[in-house]
Amino acid sequence: MTSPSSLWQSFTLGRVELPHRLAMAPMTRNRANADGTPGELMAEYYGQRATLGLLITEGTQPSADGQGYVNTPGIYTPEHIEGWQKVADAVHEGGGHLFVQLMHVGRTSHPDNTPHHRQPVAPSAIAPGEEVHTSTGPQQIPTPRALSTEEIQDVIGEFRHAAASAIEAGADGVEIHAANGYLLHQFLSPNANHRTDTYGGSVENRARFVIEVAQAVAEEIGADRTGIRISPAFPLGGINEGDTESVHAQYRYLVGELAKLNLAYLHVHHLGDDELLRSFREVWPTAVLVVRYGRERGQIAADIDAGLADIAPLGRFALANPDIVERLRTDASLNELDPTTIYGGDAAGYTDYPVFIHA
Ligand SMILES: Cc1cc2nc3c(=O)[nH]c(=O)nc-3n(C[C@H](O)[C@H](O)[C@H](O)COP(=O)(O)O)c2cc1C
Repeated sequence: MTSPSSLWQSFTLGRVELPHRLAMAPMTRNRANADGTPGELMAEYYGQRATLGLLITEGTQPSADGQGYVNTPGIYTPEHIEGWQKVADAVHEGGGHLFVQLMHVGRTSHPDNTPHHRQPVAPSAIAPGEEVHTSTGPQQIPTPRALSTEEIQDVIGEFRHAAASAIEAGADGVEIHAANGYLLHQFLSPNANHRTDTYGGSVENRARFVIEVAQAVAEEIGADRTGIRISPAFPLGGINEGDTESVHAQYRYLVGELAKLNLAYLHVHHLGDDELLRSFREVWPTAVLVVRYGRERGQIAADIDAGLADIAPLGRFALANPDIVERLRTDASLNELDPTTIYGGDAAGYTDYPVFIHA
């Protein structure tokens, strides 16, 4: 059985022309230098996967506060920009397009994992009740410090600066990470956000920070170079967004407001609430990208065929198969993912996955 033809249609996403409907989903790989600078190995890894067309990078911190894990890349110093230039060049040489995912982890951090070793920041001083991996092994995540109302403006400024830095490095755009339990998701979630100022307390107030970040980034680099990722109801990082009704109220409002900005795309890390996804589709004016965790090979085109999505980003298939596009097109077999080399290390399990050799 060959892959469905819907995957092989071209698509215009913001300013870029994509040759097909696949993309690379953002994946943290912890191979940046200790100071967050991407090196040659990262350039090689992304360059190898350029045929995916749209490559959304691993979560990248917009500031020292935004870092949660060791050896994740940053995009806020001149050295970071220089490093990302190598990555962008390698991807462009292979005909691909690069969107840098801006990930501020908020409370999902530990002083041992940041360059300044400070207490993590969050909407409220509420610990997620989870552990995080540090250089000395797993440690309990400490209680964060609540950002002041004024400091929230500073963080928005960090996103603005990071987006401009990504463009300076030659990236084609950025993806704002408002998913998976990190800072923006923490603002959205009633169990992580107990604020009593204009950034907490109601659906509108909890959405305010995400909307203001998106507005700032779009203003800085252009709405057509700005994407955003959300994960309604995803319980990562101690997040609990309440019952279905609460989740629908929060995300219908958020997506309705974001839709007015005309961003390049909405990226949904989808848990299976098709009614909610359909409601996004109805109001969203541009591209919708949908990832379903653990999707089987035969299901990759399903959301596109059902009219729920335009693009199907791939996570682990792309990690383990640099030539995943060609493999799917020709119905070739796939490499197995090596779970021991996912996070951190060197070229092993990173740039040494073989391409398929046709007999
Ligand atoms: C190793 C790994 C790292 C990931 N890192 C990120 C990340 O930095 N940012 C993000 O938004 N999602 C991240 N994800 C989630 C993926 O983008 C994707 O949504 C998920 O893997 C489901 O797709 P798949 O079943 O095709 O792998 C990560 C997933 C994996 C497997």
